[in-house]
Amino acid sequence: MKAPDHTPSTDWPEQMSNWNRSSVLVRRTIGYSAVAALVCTGVSLLFLVVVGSKDADTARARATGAWDRTVPLIREGYLPSILPAGQDIAIQVLDTRQQVVASTPQLAHKPPMATFRATSTSVHAERVLCPPAGLTGCKTVFSYKVYQPDGPWILYVAAPTVPWYGNTAALSFAIGMSLLATAMTAAGTFHVVKRDMTAVDAIRTELAEITASHLHRRVPVACNNQEEIKLLAGTVNDTLDRLEGAYKRLRQFTSDASHDLRNPLTAMRAQLEDALMHPHDTDWPKMTGAVLAGVDRLQAIVTDLLTLARLDARAPLDLSATDLGRLVGEELDRHAYRMEIVRNLRQNVFVDCDRLRITRLLVNLLDNAERHASSRITVSVRADGPTATLEVLDDGAGIAPEHRERVFDRFTRLEASRDRDSGGTGLGLAIAREIAEAHQGTLTIQDSERGARFVLRLPVREAPQTSGRSERGTGHAGFFSYPVSP
Ligand SMILES: Nc1ncnc2c1ncn2[C@@H]1O[C@H](COP(=O)(O)OP(=O)(O)OP(=O)(O)O)[C@@H](O)[C@H]1O
Ligand SMILES: [Mg+2]
Repeated sequence: MKAPDHTPSTDWPEQMSNWNRSSVLVRRTIGYSAVAALVCTGVSLLFLVVVGSKDADTARARATGAWDRTVPLIREGYLPSILPAGQDIAIQVLDTRQQVVASTPQLAHKPPMATFRATSTSVHAERVLCPPAGLTGCKTVFSYKVYQPDGPWILYVAAPTVPWYGNTAALSFAIGMSLLATAMTAAGTFHVVKRDMTAVDAIRTELAEITASHLHRRVPVACNNQEEIKLLAGTVNDTLDRLEGAYKRLRQFTSDASHDLRNPLTAMRAQLEDALMHPHDTDWPKMTGAVLAGVDRLQAIVTDLLTLARLDARAPLDLSATDLGRLVGEELDRHAYRMEIVRNLRQNVFVDCDRLRITRLLVNLLDNAERHASSRITVSVRADGPTATLEVLDDGAGIAPEHRERVFDRFTRLEASRDRDSGGTGLGLAIAREIAEAHQGTLTIQDSERGARFVLRLPVREAPQTSGRSERGTGHAGFFSYPVSP
């Protein structure tokens, strides 16, 4: 017998997400509709109370009008037994013996509609009777005392009772408008939420399909959406742009690195194969020297790649307070140059730096300058306000403005240099710029009258407290080291 398959369906996440989406849609619609219904109920209640009190005032005014018309007739003795019929108003006049002496037609020959009277201190009383004697339905009955020479007569006026909501038309209107407003809110919310979710879904679906081989794809920016969703799509597309750019650069870098590693390997292999084929005709010391030169080049490239990888990974810097002029002076002392070196080094320009890395940067600039200068290299260090500036200027052919950014790209070597020498990997300036940026500084090529002028700018720091310790000659011990987080 086949065991039941408990493997969850592959559509499960999709079903969950569909269920969540519908649930969000329903919850939002119900939520907004409930708020709309509450607001409508409040407004309707207010409206109905106002209408009710207005209608009650009108009914009271009509009763008072009936009193106004009837009392003069009683006082002047012209009271007819049948009073003119008022619009749904019933009137009865009772004499001192409680006999009905006059009434509107609907109460003709009928007993008194009520028995209550105004108190001795008041001339008017009002009650709701359901129904008053001789009438149908609930009525508000007003009782007035009319003082006659033979004693107080009673005037009853019955007017239809006004409910708290005024009248049925007002109630129907309020209920109708509330239902309409709630329904419109529900429909509007449903439409807007569904539209937004559809736009977000389109972004999500597109993002889910973007892989390394489809990095050119972008999420749709629908034009009828809310501003926030357009912003979201725009931001996602900007991120994809940057990602695609970074991926392209990485691919280029990998291909350049492989190319640069393959060239010396191919040359070395050819040399070794040739030597093995003709061992007796081979000048072994010369061949070994050539292969070693290839190994050196491979080693240089691998070292540079490793340095770049560490800089890319933002490896922590070993920062220490360093006199930049002094560091440069010591580095210049360490080597013999083929040309004149002009030093213009201001002392006591302190920076926080990783000495090894800044030295690596300087060595590359000096190396390049020596390779391209005609007869002189000028190295200067100075403080420009909050910035420490290191300049390396040579008197060579210089670098054309259109190449001044390109030379900082990895594996970039200008044509002139390729002709001039074959040793460089084209990684030196890329490493130098990464080092400058890791120190919150900049490395650029500036205009000069002649030759290339490389300018490194680093943030200046205050001179450290010497307190008995002093900088000595060369080496790490000559610098004030203290722990600084990178
Ligand atoms: N002082 C300079 N004058 C003229 N061109 C320069 C100068 N410095 C650098 N360049 C140009 O910039 C390119 C890149 O320099 P970078 O230091 O990155 O590489 P490299 O010197 O060729 O090799 P590497 O430094 O890795 O051994 C050089 O190949 C050269 O064409
Ligand atoms: Mg170089």
